[in-house]
Amino acid sequence: MKKLITFEGIEGSGKSTQIKLVAEYLIEKNVELLITQEPSGTDIGRKIGGILFNREHYYMCAETEIFLFCAARAQHVREMIMPALKQNKVVLCDRFSDATYAYQGAGRGLDQEFIKLINDYSSMLLKPDLTLLFDLPVEIGLKRATERNNLLKEPSSTDRFERENMDFHRRIREGYLNILKNEPDRFRLIDASRDVDTIQKEVRRHIIDFINL
Ligand SMILES: Nc1ncnc2c1ncn2[C@@H]1O[C@H](COP(=O)(O)OP(=O)(O)OP(=O)(O)O)[C@@H](O)[C@H]1O
Ligand SMILES: [Mg+2]
Repeated sequence: MKKLITFEGIEGSGKSTQIKLVAEYLIEKNVELLITQEPSGTDIGRKIGGILFNREHYYMCAETEIFLFCAARAQHVREMIMPALKQNKVVLCDRFSDATYAYQGAGRGLDQEFIKLINDYSSMLLKPDLTLLFDLPVEIGLKRATERNNLLKEPSSTDRFERENMDFHRRIREGYLNILKNEPDRFRLIDASRDVDTIQKEVRRHIIDFINL
C-alpha cells in the first residue's frame, strides 16, 4: 500500500517545523520513514533550488520556473520517493505536486491543463495519499518566515518567493484551498495560526489514523 504523505501551505505556515516533530515521533514508534522535501530532496534538486530561489533571478519567467520545479520533481520521484515506497516506507514530503498548482497555477497564472501534463509526467502519475494543508493568513506566515530568516547567518536571506507581494501569497493560499475543495477526501485542513504543540497533536492524530499505527 502506498503511503505518500505531503505537507503543503504558504511560506512560514510551519510545514518544516511540523514534519520534523512528527518524524521524530514516528521514528520512536519504529515506523520506517523517508523524510524529504521539494525541490531539494536530491543533490540535483538542491542545485535546481539554488537557481529557483536566488533573489537575483527576479526576472525568471513562469515557464522556466515550472520546468525547473518539475525537473527537480522528476528526479526526486525516481531517485527517492518511488524506491522508498517500494520498500514499504512511509514518505513524508515537504511540498509536492499541489504546490505546482498553487504557485505556478494560482500564483503565476499558468494554464491548468499544461500544469497537469507536466506535473503528471514528472511525478510518474504519483499522487499523495494524504495531504496536510497548513492554512493561515499570509501576513502571519510571512512574518514568521521573515523572523526565521533574520535568525539565519545571512541576514538578507529572503528568497525569490518570499519577496513576492501580498497578493501573490493570497492567491497561493486561495489556490491551495481550491484544490482541497475539489479533493476533500485526500486533504486535512489544519489551522496553522495556533501554537506548535497544538498543531503537532493534530498532525500526529491525522497521520496515526491514516497509517493505522
Ligand atoms: N505554530 C507556530 N507558531 C509560531 N511560530 C511558528 C509556528 N510554527 C513554526 N513557527 C516558526 O515560524 C517559522 C517558519 O516555520 P517553518 O520554517 O516551519 O515554515 P515553512 O512552512 O516550512 O516555511 P517555508 O515555506 O518558508 O519553508 C520558523 O521560525 C518556526 O520556528
Ligand atoms: Mg520549510
